[in-house]
Amino acid sequence: MAVHTLLSMLEQGRSMDKTLKGLPSPLLRELVYGVARWYWRLKAYADQLLQKPLRAKDSDVMMLILVGLYQLAHLRVPVYASINETVSACEHLGKGWAKGLVNAVLRSYLRRKDELDVDLPDVAKYCHPSWIIERVSDSWPAHWREILSANNERPPMVLRVNRQRIDRSSYLQKLCQKNMSAVIDPLSGDGVLVDKPVDVNELPGFSDGLVSVQDTVAQWAADVLPAQPGNRVLDACAAPGGKLTHILEAHQSLAEVIAIDISQKRVDLIRDNLARLGLAAKLLVADAADPSTWWDGALFDCIVVDAPCTGTGVIRRRPEIKHLRHPEDLGKLVEQQAALLDHLWQTLISHGYLLYITCSILKEENEAQIERFSAANSDVKICELDLPTGTKGRYGLQTLPGVHKVDGFYYSLMQKKVA
Ligand SMILES: C[S@@+](CC[C@H](N)C(=O)[O-])C[C@H]1O[C@@H](n2cnc3c(N)ncnc32)[C@H](O)[C@@H]1O
Repeated sequence: MAVHTLLSMLEQGRSMDKTLKGLPSPLLRELVYGVARWYWRLKAYADQLLQKPLRAKDSDVMMLILVGLYQLAHLRVPVYASINETVSACEHLGKGWAKGLVNAVLRSYLRRKDELDVDLPDVAKYCHPSWIIERVSDSWPAHWREILSANNERPPMVLRVNRQRIDRSSYLQKLCQKNMSAVIDPLSGDGVLVDKPVDVNELPGFSDGLVSVQDTVAQWAADVLPAQPGNRVLDACAAPGGKLTHILEAHQSLAEVIAIDISQKRVDLIRDNLARLGLAAKLLVADAADPSTWWDGALFDCIVVDAPCTGTGVIRRRPEIKHLRHPEDLGKLVEQQAALLDHLWQTLISHGYLLYITCSILKEENEAQIERFSAANSDVKICELDLPTGTKGRYGLQTLPGVHKVDGFYYSLMQKKVA
């Protein structure tokens, strides 16, 4: 199953979570995420250990070798179990002939592991594709190694308690009663850091809406947004509704909240989240960058643009980004972000606020994007952000994995000046 999930991600671009849906094995998930994370390093080991390259049609055998190597290099599964299970999986792939080969490669790894890391190319050393290494080192020349290394770590599980229903200390007690160790997140108002990630359905009160899963920095949006009672608020790229639901939990007397997403399937996810948390918003499936198709002409007091982006700030959570994103995506995403900003600005009231967010760490999507936007619009005023960690730029604030010990997000808050 791990081989199948990884191959369908690498060869057909299929999301690993979609393939894994309904398969609750933690070991399976660990294998799949681990190989996606360490792919280039494991592949470099396999290439050194194989006496001759495998044929293209045996990519499943290669993937099985990587799954075996991952267990030996990163997990505490006993060596004999890792090797036996991996070798016997050859039969399940219909490649019984490969058993001797897989066995030999894995045993050879155990003998030669100390020599395999010498002279690795950067792609294998840092375990990222070369275009991401280049872009991150261009954006962050002093920090790129730290960032790439943090991207290869397992992320913490962060919860957000529903402040309308429970406070953090009471929720910690509920976790403690279920023998789950957790502490209050010092960098967010509603966050709880859980020691050992668990399936959401094991979290006390999850289905009753006591809690959601959301990274620390993503939890800042609701508090940064200067929404006032009676305001009309737009969340322009809302699915699956993480920030939207937090805004609704945090700001209770808003006049109207409209949430848009371009994808019908993803709007269904917002609907599920709203129902679980007992919250309400007006949902629209639309292209937010084309207000002529959805806007009624009434101006918004606050707009959140949590824009589509490369996701380069959340690679530790979604290692498949390293494989599924391509260099040509960057230019297209920068254009989409610009179109969203340019068109949504027209729907904002004078003195209103637009909060621009990405989970990218690339300057093109962040500081350079807002620099362009504010140069093109004389009525943009950049607001000061007072947040617990991050690197302040001229236009916004950036967090960096490894440097700030949280996911990589960019926040820029802009106010519309009166002309
Ligand atoms: C970073 S995600 C949003 C995450 C969400 N705000 C949350 O906190 O859960 C970006 C979303 O933008 C949507 N999107 C992309 N282009 C869009 C457009 N032109 N109009 C509306 N939504 C768009 C995508 O479908 C995706 O769901």
